[in-house]
Amino acid sequence: MNVAIVGTGYVGLVSGACFSEVGVNVTCVDIDRNKIERLRQGEIPIYEPGLSELVSRNVAAGRLHFATSLQEVLDNVEIVFCAVGTPPGEDGSADLSHVLAVASEFGSNIKKYTLFVTKSTVPVGTHKLVRATVEAELKKRGEENIPFEVASNPEFLKEGAAIKDFMSPDRVVIGIESERGRKLMEKLYRPFLLNNFRVMFMDLPSAEMTKYAANAMLATRISFMNEIANLCEKVGADVNSVRTAMGADVRIGGKFLYAGCGYGGSCFPKDVRALIRTGQEYGCAMQVISAVEEVNEKQKTVVYEKLAALFEGGVKGRRIALWGLAFKPETDDMRCAPALEVIRLLLENGAEVVVYDPVAMDECRHRIGNAVTYASDMYDAVVDADALALLTEWKEFRLPSWAVVAKTMKGVNIVDGRNIYQKSDLQPHGLCLYGIGRPNQTEK
Ligand SMILES: NC(=O)c1ccc[n+]([C@@H]2O[C@H](COP(=O)([O-])OP(=O)(O)OC[C@H]3O[C@@H](n4cnc5c(N)ncnc54)[C@H](O)[C@@H]3O)[C@@H](O)[C@H]2O)c1
Repeated sequence: MNVAIVGTGYVGLVSGACFSEVGVNVTCVDIDRNKIERLRQGEIPIYEPGLSELVSRNVAAGRLHFATSLQEVLDNVEIVFCAVGTPPGEDGSADLSHVLAVASEFGSNIKKYTLFVTKSTVPVGTHKLVRATVEAELKKRGEENIPFEVASNPEFLKEGAAIKDFMSPDRVVIGIESERGRKLMEKLYRPFLLNNFRVMFMDLPSAEMTKYAANAMLATRISFMNEIANLCEKVGADVNSVRTAMGADVRIGGKFLYAGCGYGGSCFPKDVRALIRTGQEYGCAMQVISAVEEVNEKQKTVVYEKLAALFEGGVKGRRIALWGLAFKPETDDMRCAPALEVIRLLLENGAEVVVYDPVAMDECRHRIGNAVTYASDMYDAVVDADALALLTEWKEFRLPSWAVVAKTMKGVNIVDGRNIYQKSDLQPHGLCLYGIGRPNQTEK
C-alpha cells in the first residue's frame, strides 16, 4: 500500500515510521523544509526512544520517504493522513487552519479516489469542514466528479512510549462512512491486527469525540488526585497511601492517579480547553472538565509556593536548582510543561535558577534562552543551591546520591514535585523532603 502522512511531528513521524515497518510504502510530508532536509540527512528532529533506528531502517529499506509538498506524492497514494498540529486558538478552540490547508491542497490536486484520514486531534464536526473544503477545491477545478472520502483516525500514542503504543495499541478508533473506505483502513491496519488488538469502526462524530473524551478523562484523574493531595496535606493524610488503596479497587484501577505538579504537554491542556469550547458552542457547559483545567493551572504553582514558603522573604536572591524540564520523562517536549510556570514564578520573584534535564536542555534554551543557568549534570545543578525541586521523574533522578547532594547544596530542602522520594533516604543526610500531599515528609 502507498500512503502519505502530512505533518511530520511526533504523531506523523512515528505513524509513518511504524506503518513503513510493517511494509507500507510511506511518504512523510511537511512544509518545514528544514525539518525534511534534516530527516533526509538521517537526523531525527525530536527525541523519542527507538525512533531514530526505526526511521533509518525503513529509509534504508526504501519504504520511508520524505517530501515537502503533498502535490508531489498524491498521484501515487491511496490514503492521505493529516497529522498536522491543532494548537489552541485565542479562545481555547482548536486552530484548524493547518488541517484545512492540507484539505485544500488535497482537493486541489487529487486525480482519483483517495481517502483523507484526519489523525490530528480535531473537534467534533471537523470532518464536515474538511469535506466542504475538499469539495470547494474540486468545484474550483470543475472536477466535482473525482471521488474522495473523509475518515477520522484519532491517535492515542504517548510521547516517550510512542512506538510501542503505535505498534501494539489498546485500540484503533476509525470513524468512516463507506464500505470502500473501511476496507482500505482494515487492510492498512491488518498487520497490527495479527497482534490481536482491537480496531473499532464507528461514525465520524463518535471517533472525533472519543479522542477528547479519553484525554479529558485522563486529565480529570490527574486533577482529581491533585485536589485530594492538597486536602491530604491539610488533614495529615499521605496521598501515596490513599492512591495505592484507591487504585486497588478494580473499578478504579491504579493508572493516572499520581499527584504531582500538574499536567502539561501538547495534548491534555489544549484538548481540555477545546472540549470546554465545543461545549460552549453547543450550549452544553462542561462543568467537570472546566474545573479540571482550573485545578491544573493552580497545581502548576504548588512547587513554587512550597519553595517560597521555605525562606523568610520568599525566593528573592535564592539559588534554586530544578531537576527536570520536559513535561514528562522520555521526551524533550516542553509544551505547557509545569517547569515553565515554576521557572517563570521563580524568576519573577527574584530567584536565581539552575536547571538540568537529560534531554530537554536545548528545548529550554530555545524557549527561554539564558534566563536560567544550564548545569552540566544533575549534581552540578545543586552546587550551592539553597533548595532543589524535582519537576520531571526521569529515571536518572529516581535514586540520587543524597550524600553528594547534601555535601554540595548550601540549603537542606528538597521539594519533590512528583512524589518519588522517601523521607527515610534523605533524613540521614540532614535533608528535608516536601512532597505533594505528604505532610509528614517535612519533619527533619
Ligand atoms: N504529540 C502527541 O503526543 C500527540 C498524541 C496524539 C495526538 N496528537 C495530535 O496530533 C496532531 C499533531 O501533533 P504533533 O505533536 O505531532 O504536532 P507537531 O507540532 O509535532 O507536528 C506538526 C507538524 O505539522 C507540520 N505542518 C503544519 N502545517 C502543515 C501543512 N500545511 N502541510 C504540511 N505540514 C504541516 C508542522 O511543520 C509540524 O512539523 C495534533 O492535533 C495533536 O493534538 C498528538
